[in-house]
Amino acid sequence: KQPCYIVAIETSCDETSVAVVEDGTKVRSNIVSSQIETHRKFGGVVPEVASRKHVETITWIIEEALREARVSPAELSAVAVTHGPGLVGSLLVGMVAAKALATALELPLIGVHHIAGHIYANRLVGELEYPLVALVVSGGHTEIVHVQEEGRFRILGLTRDDAVGEAFDKVARALQLPYPGGPHIDRLAHEAKESITLPRAWLEPGSYDFSFSGLKSAVLAVLNQAKMKGEALDPAHVARGFQESVIDVLVEKAVRAVRETGARQLLLAGGVAANRGLRTELAGRCAEEGIPLVIPPFEYCTDNAAMIGAAAYLKYTRGQFSSFDMKAEPLLSL
Ligand code: KG4
Ligand code: ZN
Repeated sequence: KQPCYIVAIETSCDETSVAVVEDGTKVRSNIVSSQIETHRKFGGVVPEVASRKHVETITWIIEEALREARVSPAELSAVAVTHGPGLVGSLLVGMVAAKALATALELPLIGVHHIAGHIYANRLVGELEYPLVALVVSGGHTEIVHVQEEGRFRILGLTRDDAVGEAFDKVARALQLPYPGGPHIDRLAHEAKESITLPRAWLEPGSYDFSFSGLKSAVLAVLNQAKMKGEALDPAHVARGFQESVIDVLVEKAVRAVRETGARQLLLAGGVAANRGLRTELAGRCAEEGIPLVIPPFEYCTDNAAMIGAAAYLKYTRGQFSSFDMKAEPLLSL
């Protein structure tokens, strides 16, 4: 049997990434060009700048991904691309590149939802067992998703205000840490010997929704108070207190979702899945509860094209191809 090679393109935010994935599970190449250095001086992603950067890099990244994979264009089976959600200008660059490539090589096109990509990054770890629950935690999303069977998603709960990664980044900024702040909070929290106590937003009993903006305000209030009193507050204690509060709520709700839906697995997905504290707490709790937990390797947690290739393969095997009229959809729902 001929292997199925899918070339996948991801440009939904500030990472330009192209991958070649073999049979949905074997990553032959996964090139990620981060624009973090460019956006850092602005303290966040500037959409117009992001799309321009994607335009500058996409062509050579496609070439590089094919070269590293040692797969010739003639051997490819399909072209996959993230068609939403994300920044419209950024998505468009990937979309145009994918359509051009598919047209030139006469290959089918497969549009992939960015969050489905994050969830199916876990396919790169091993077979999935349905029904399952995925805890999706990224810079733009915080969702508990019930996946009844392959490709059938139901959102059980989501954030009512900030996404969890966004909260990490905002708290980091208040602590004067560089952008993106998530990894810096992670490091400080890891080093801290103590933590300050901050509130947890559980919301109504039974709700799977989240809210992080109150927690962020609580951090700002603590910092302001210390400043006014002229007290020195160790940023590491604040980082750890914040992270503990976030993790408590995420872990509790994800575990309850698994229990209440009778899921066979819990998957962790999205950029914040790189957080050491979250990985450790979730692993510990799942071990206690006897819940099989799957966590992607670090490089497949933050935005990358390999996860898009993994998700696209599932559509490929079911013959779910996209039309060449496919549009970039900034608010695409799962
Ligand atoms: O999934 P992702 O790469 O992009 C989106 O689709 O949003 O997630 C990026 C987010 C950023 O907010 C970043 O601060 C956060 O993930 N992040 C982390 C860590 N690494 C990345 N947050 C906490 N701890 C980390 N180690
Ligand atoms: Zn993402």
